[in-house]
Amino acid sequence: MALERVPEQRPELTTLLERRWSPRAFDWQHELGSEDLGVLFEAARWAPSAGNSQPWSFIYGLRGDETHARLMPLLDEGNQRWARRASGLIVTIRQLAAGPDHDLFGADHTQFDLGQAVAHLSIEAMAIGLHVHQFSGMDRPAVAAEFGVPAHWEVTSGIAVGRIAEPEIFDEQWEIERERKPRDRRPVSEFVFAGDWNPSASSV
Ligand SMILES: Cc1cc2nc3c(=O)[nH]c(=O)nc-3n(C[C@H](O)[C@H](O)[C@H](O)COP(=O)(O)O)c2cc1C
Repeated sequence: MALERVPEQRPELTTLLERRWSPRAFDWQHELGSEDLGVLFEAARWAPSAGNSQPWSFIYGLRGDETHARLMPLLDEGNQRWARRASGLIVTIRQLAAGPDHDLFGADHTQFDLGQAVAHLSIEAMAIGLHVHQFSGMDRPAVAAEFGVPAHWEVTSGIAVGRIAEPEIFDEQWEIERERKPRDRRPVSEFVFAGDWNPSASSV
């Protein structure tokens, strides 16, 4: 059931978007191969960005390797609990200013651009049978220090990636229930306006 869990049923969306969600139950046995990893970063690479500035970089570690071991203790405890089962961890990094390593077209939209790259990566993950769970809960300055990220780049978020597992892999009942909890969203009418910005007027 967990593998096909799409309680919201949005058939008007393309299947990859309909099925995307952020599980915490990852298959402990699954290993992320370099080919799959390459596809994920290729998806990020081809994301649009302001002026094609591509103001992103990533650091990754695979479960069992040294980078993973250095990264894991820097995640919030709550995130460590589930993210340790994922096959890999990716740190997302956005550019703040031009530097010797990479010019920058404009700094205004770099977080936006990084977000798009991560969205592309997330959907490509679905296409190759993986799921991702993004997280901000980690000591970002500590990650920057640990991995030598220079000051004109900013550690922004983390991504756990792997193959989804049944919620019953968790020992605690609350963790199983959290995994099955229905997802919810604000209605489109609350955030889409045909004219003046007005959340109380339904336009769609
Ligand atoms: C930038 C960002 C930061 C997030 N931080 C965390 C986090 O620290 N821990 C966590 O468990 N989930 C985190 N999430 C996951 C969100 O809670 C999740 O995407 C949201 O509840 C919607 O659920 P869905 O992705 O299953 O649709 C984060 C997601 C994003 C995009």
